[in-house]
Amino acid sequence: MSSVQPAATDTPRKYQLFIDGQWVDAESGKTFTTPNPATGQTLAEVAEADRADVEKAVSAARRAFEGKWSRMSARDRGKLIYKLAQLIEQNSKELAQLETADNGKPIRESQYVDLPQVAENFEYFAGYATKIEGETIPVPGQMFNYTLREPLGVCGQIIPWNFPLLMAAWKLAPALAAGNTVVLKPAEQTPVTAMELGRLIQEAGFPDGVVNIVPGYGETAGVALASHPGIDKIAFTGSTEVGKLIAHAAADNLTKVSLELGGKAPNIVFADANLDQAVNGAMMGIFFNQGQVCCAGSRLFLSEEIKDEFLDRFKEKAQKIKVGDPSDASTQMGPQVSEEQLNRIKGYVDIAREEGANVLTGGCPPALEGDFQKGYFFQPTIFSEVKNQMRVAQEEIFGPVTSVITFKDEDDLIKQANETIYGLSAGIWTSDITRAHRFAREIKAGVVWINTFNMFNAASPFGGYKQSGYGREMGKHALELYTQVKSVWVDLSGKPIGWFGK
Ligand code: NAI
Ligand code: MG
Repeated sequence: MSSVQPAATDTPRKYQLFIDGQWVDAESGKTFTTPNPATGQTLAEVAEADRADVEKAVSAARRAFEGKWSRMSARDRGKLIYKLAQLIEQNSKELAQLETADNGKPIRESQYVDLPQVAENFEYFAGYATKIEGETIPVPGQMFNYTLREPLGVCGQIIPWNFPLLMAAWKLAPALAAGNTVVLKPAEQTPVTAMELGRLIQEAGFPDGVVNIVPGYGETAGVALASHPGIDKIAFTGSTEVGKLIAHAAADNLTKVSLELGGKAPNIVFADANLDQAVNGAMMGIFFNQGQVCCAGSRLFLSEEIKDEFLDRFKEKAQKIKVGDPSDASTQMGPQVSEEQLNRIKGYVDIAREEGANVLTGGCPPALEGDFQKGYFFQPTIFSEVKNQMRVAQEEIFGPVTSVITFKDEDDLIKQANETIYGLSAGIWTSDITRAHRFAREIKAGVVWINTFNMFNAASPFGGYKQSGYGREMGKHALELYTQVKSVWVDLSGKPIGWFGK
């Protein structure tokens, strides 16, 4: 039986803050609403956390860290995280519906991509709780030296709206497995599934205060969390612009930081690629999740030799994408998350035209009927005749909009591909195995996909080079972000240190 209430209700849902195991109003009494981006109708009214609430949440997380949570065995901690994974699976249909209602992503993505990966991340890290170990170091002399790998303490985690529940999972699962406590701030656009996760955390039986969830705005709740001297670590996913603000705020307290930021990934098609695979890969690279993906293949590099044929096929397929009601199982693209994001995308279409690029297809919202006329929809869009220096090739648009750039040979390609402030991901389509691996070495990006795109697994690290951030989430690397090493020296000789005389 599922404990999450299904998405379709006529009256808006209501959520309070989740602090110290209790559901409470904001100290200010303020609330904010979150719309369903497919229709603009209010989905939920949510308590709005600000500094005073963040203060309470950080104190609760500190008490939990120093209390029950640190005394719990690793096995019991792992069991709780695993229980949470099971509860997520049991409630996955309802959670997927809510994710779609709050974010606008097609239900086939929420249900078959987001939710399974959310459960997978908690499962994977549940297993790690009992496998976080120190080392013994072969130091010379009558000495024994070993390390303890300890949790950091209270972690502030600020997440974006593009994969709301999945980003919560990437952050919470390793932090909890390593024995930390957390104050999580979901994005103001998509707080709903994080609040439902709070209910499941309670149901799983986590001690009070181990996870606290404080929905609110970045400029208020986010700033309060990132600059709080009582947190030991801040983890952030979102824009590079805000990532820099977070790093500045954290610097004042020397809070440890990990950042997963924007991208402008090159997705590269050589003339020897399997074109059926590559065309589909280009689609996956930019139209998945309405293009609101940090690792989206938003710079499509085509070899001059196959450019025309490729674009004919790509355009035809892009025009066939089914855009509309995201709760319909056959829909392939839903609305953008917000009016703000929609306007930002429209702005980049104007910029593309001014810069001399060609809008090959799309470039405006689709004609939809009924309630969906008020939704934030945009058509799959291809800019051709783009030069790598143009703004549409350098700035993250974060929509279903790709910029097509051509290249002559491999040297020309590598140079252009690396000419960006970002370095999150890259894709290459070729049948030449040596070229593929050469490229993987030469590209400055944290993830490289060869003849595939957007592949993820809880065991595989993800994170950026350059201004795409630092730190690696998922896999064993994520534990580095949530633990610190203590080196312990023990004398085995029983004799005084002779340095200043015996
Ligand atoms: P954002 O970076 O402002 O928001 C992400 C999170 O940070 C949200 O939880 C927000 O409340 C919080 N936040 C905002 N300002 C903050 C501050 N000063 N201190 C602490 N927390 C703060 O992203 P936004 O405004 O929603 O989107 C703008 C652009 O950012 C997008 O168009 C896209 O290019 C990029 N973006 C990238 C994402 C990624 O996965 N790398 C995710 C979301 C946005
Ligand atoms: Mg912002």
